[in-house]
Amino acid sequence: MKVYIETYGCQMNVSDSGKIVHLFANQDYQPTSDSRSADLIIINTCSVREKPELKLFSALGRYIPLKRQRPELVIAVGGCVAQQWGKKLLERCPGLDIVFGTHQLDSLPQLVAGVRRSQKPASSTDFLACPGGLEVMARPDPKAVNAMVTIMQGCDNFCSYCIVPYVRGREYSRPSSAIIEEVRKLAEAGIKEVMLLGQNVNSYGLKAPGEISFAELLGMVHEVEGIERIRFTTSHPKDMSDELISAFATLPKLCPSLHLPLQAGSDAVLKRMGRGYTAAVYLENVEKLRQVMPDVALTTDIIVGFPGESEADFQQTLMMLEKVGYDQIYSFKYSARPGTRAADYEDMIPDEEKRDRLARCQALQNKISQTLLLAQVGKVSEVLVTGPSKRGEGEWSGRTPESRIVNFPAPVSISTKVVAGDIYRVKIVEAFKHSLKGEVVA
Ligand code: 5AD
Ligand code: SF4
Repeated sequence: MKVYIETYGCQMNVSDSGKIVHLFANQDYQPTSDSRSADLIIINTCSVREKPELKLFSALGRYIPLKRQRPELVIAVGGCVAQQWGKKLLERCPGLDIVFGTHQLDSLPQLVAGVRRSQKPASSTDFLACPGGLEVMARPDPKAVNAMVTIMQGCDNFCSYCIVPYVRGREYSRPSSAIIEEVRKLAEAGIKEVMLLGQNVNSYGLKAPGEISFAELLGMVHEVEGIERIRFTTSHPKDMSDELISAFATLPKLCPSLHLPLQAGSDAVLKRMGRGYTAAVYLENVEKLRQVMPDVALTTDIIVGFPGESEADFQQTLMMLEKVGYDQIYSFKYSARPGTRAADYEDMIPDEEKRDRLARCQALQNKISQTLLLAQVGKVSEVLVTGPSKRGEGEWSGRTPESRIVNFPAPVSISTKVVAGDIYRVKIVEAFKHSLKGEVVA
């Protein structure tokens, strides 16, 4: 049998889809990239931004008619939209077989088997004290050099614009022993770099009595032999402890790159967002980080056009982009999520204005990113090879510790073949829009 998975949204969803593939491989389902030949179609949805239902309904509009030729086809929808709609989604979409929530990942194979037996649709979206599926380990891709490891799930912050706490549930930290075991297995399978994942990683362990802190967890991951690089995402600026900042100084495998969502530069907007920090506190954290890692590469998330955001507020966001100097930003127009506090705020910003602010924000960032990439030319960096370059031409591709992409030709002087997982010292010779070009140095 064959399973086709379509994944929307964040890294957490990508990681969850990997686990689903693994679960179904144990049930003799092979993954396929062709939806028309699948016996099982799974759509893993995201509801964080912009019209998530439209995307789902249009996908279902394509897949449900396939049942005419393949009556045995089972269609399941999971992830955040499924969590929000629950069984109402079955009524709204006749032909859909399964709705499974964000805590039900591991029970999906049983749900599918049940639906095949009973020929009746089923839904399961209750929140559990311990979300199911966190202990499922995806089989690492034999060609992969890096892997994601979920360390916690859910969020208790309830930022006023955000749907995540409602669809992923309360913060749950996985036992550190299970995390370390997973990292060890990944290292044995040849993985060199791990990305520790969670909605709010730097509050790891805080609400689990007897559990270690996030900084301590990093220390334990650091000890796993074979792991050369450690990254994590997403951290919350209000939870940047001094202990975590100093971990960057003491753990050489911890990469000098950090995603630190700012969201907005105006204190008034940050307050209405419920973010729990001011622009000054954010800058202080950046300063402290740069003291221990002068070359740290920062990335961030920005929301423009939050309700009540004035032009002056927006200018504060632009100022923060200049002050911090991010390598990259992920910027979004505010989009009201039903059920969140901000959806009821007054002073919604017209879409045209949001579009204009987004364009100005991205134009400024493009300049900043370009300047930062150009400043790399002439420097020598350690590049972890991830595989052949997408540009072809016999080039290889990899990432610097700061996570910048570098393409480089295989060195003629070195007799051994370049393979993914190797680390080369590479001199940067050219900067493009989103990547660098380098040459291996002896
Ligand atoms: N509108 C726009 N962007 C949002 N994000 C979260 N919720 C919303 C929303 N309602 C963005 C934030 C967050 C990222 C994952 O998505 O910037 O950090
Ligand atoms: Fe959403 Fe805020 Fe939690 Fe991030 S910290 S997931 S933005 S509620």
